[in-house]
Amino acid sequence: MATTVYDPFDADFQVDPYPAYQALRDAGPVHLHIGEPEFYALPRFADVWQAARDPATFSSAHGLTFYPDEIATLGLAPTIVMLDPPRHTALRRRISHGFTPKRIVAMEPLIREFVRGRVDAIERRVADGEPVDLHRDFSSPIPTFVLAHLLGVPPADRAKFDPWVTALTRLQDGGFSLDALQADGAVQAVGEMFAYFGDLITVRRGSPGDDLISALTGAEVDGERLTDWDILGFCFVMVAGGNDTTGNLISHGVALLDEYPDQRARLLAEPELLPGAILEFLRMEGSVQALARTTTRAVAIGDTEIPAGRKVMLMYGSANRDEREFGDTADRLDIAREISRHLGFAGGPHLCIGSHLARLQARIAFEELLWRQPAIGVDTAAAARLPSAFTRGWTALPATGIRPTRVSV
Ligand code: HEM
Repeated sequence: MATTVYDPFDADFQVDPYPAYQALRDAGPVHLHIGEPEFYALPRFADVWQAARDPATFSSAHGLTFYPDEIATLGLAPTIVMLDPPRHTALRRRISHGFTPKRIVAMEPLIREFVRGRVDAIERRVADGEPVDLHRDFSSPIPTFVLAHLLGVPPADRAKFDPWVTALTRLQDGGFSLDALQADGAVQAVGEMFAYFGDLITVRRGSPGDDLISALTGAEVDGERLTDWDILGFCFVMVAGGNDTTGNLISHGVALLDEYPDQRARLLAEPELLPGAILEFLRMEGSVQALARTTTRAVAIGDTEIPAGRKVMLMYGSANRDEREFGDTADRLDIAREISRHLGFAGGPHLCIGSHLARLQARIAFEELLWRQPAIGVDTAAAARLPSAFTRGWTALPATGIRPTRVSV
C-alpha cells in the first residue's frame, strides 16, 4: 500500500488537486492518509465505482466526511444520504414517488424565464460599468431559485437560503469541533433551517399545494408514508447538496470553455453537443470531489487490507480523471467524448437523485448565456476558490467578454 502523504487541507492542493490525484493514482489503488484525521483513500476509477456499489462493505451510516462522529456532533437523525439499504432503499422509493421526472420537466419554462432575467441583469451591469461576478450574479442564484420554488418556499423567505447554504458547506470542512461550529454560527443556521422546514411541512400537511413538500406528504408506497423527519432530512440534503453543486457546475463550464477555445467554438457550431458537454464539465471539474464511507468489515483492495471500522474516501474527482478509464486525453476537455460511465453524480444506491434537475438547469443556463454572450469568459487570476476538501467551487469568479447588449451569432 502506498502511504503517499497528500494533505486535503492544503490550500495549494485545494486550488489544483489534479497533479496530486495523478501521483496518488500512479502510486497505487489504496492510500493511507497518516495524521489527523487518519483515513484511507481510493483514487482510481474502478475501485471507487465498485465501492460505491457495495454499501454492505462501504457504509454511509457513519457520515460522509473524515470525521468519526459528525452525525452525533450535530445531534441529527440520519438523512437519506447517510442510510444504508434496506432502510435507504425503502425511503428512496417513497421520495421518488413525489420527486418525479414529470415535476422536474414541468419546471423548464419557469427556469428559462429566471435565467433570461439573470442574463439581462449581467448585461445591464456591464452597460452600467459595474463588474460582473459570474458565480455570484449568474450561476449561484439559479439553483437557489429553483430549489426554493420546488419546495414551495414563499418568495419573501428565499433570501434565507444563502446563509444556510454557506453554513452547510462549512459543516463539511469545519473539523466537527462543536465549539468551532457553534462559534461559527453553523449549528444555529442548521437549527434555523430545520425549524423553518418543520413549520412548512406542518402547514402543507394541513393544506397541500402544488409543491414538492406537499407531494412528499402524500407520497405512499406499500401503504407506508413519509414521516416529517424523512421529509425534513430530504429537504436538508437537497439544500445542502443541490445548491452550490449546481451553481459550480455552471461556473466551471464557462471557465472550461474559456480555457479551451476550440471546444467553445465547436459547441457554438454544434449545439446538439450541449448535454454531453455538461457531463464532460462535471467529469473534468466535479462539484463533489470526494465523500467517505466506513468499512463494515475488513476488505482487500489490491494487496492492501483495509480493516473494519475505517473511514475510506471515495475520490470521485480523481476517479473522473483516471486515464485507465478515460484514456490518454483524460486530463483534457472534449465535449464530444463518449462517456459510458462517470462518477460526477456518484453511483450505486446513492446516485444523485437530483442529477436530472441539475443537468436541466445547466442546459438552460448555457442555452441562454452562451448563444447570447458567445465571448463570455472568466478572469481566473482574480478568482477565488472555495476552500474545501470535498466541494470544488468558487467564492469569486469575475466575468470577462460580456457585451452590454445582446449579440447574435
Ligand atoms: C451538479 C450538481 C450536483 C452534483 C455534482 C451532485 C452530487 C451528488 C453526489 C456525488 C451524491 C452522492 C453522495 C454520496 O456518494 O454519498 C449525491 C446525492 C444526492 N443528491 Fe446530488 N448533486 C447535484 C445536484 C443535486 C440536486 C439539484 C439535488 C436536489 C434537487 C440533489 C439531491 C441529492 C440527494 C437527495 C442525494 C442523496 C441520494 C441518496 O442518498 O439516495 N443533488 N449528489
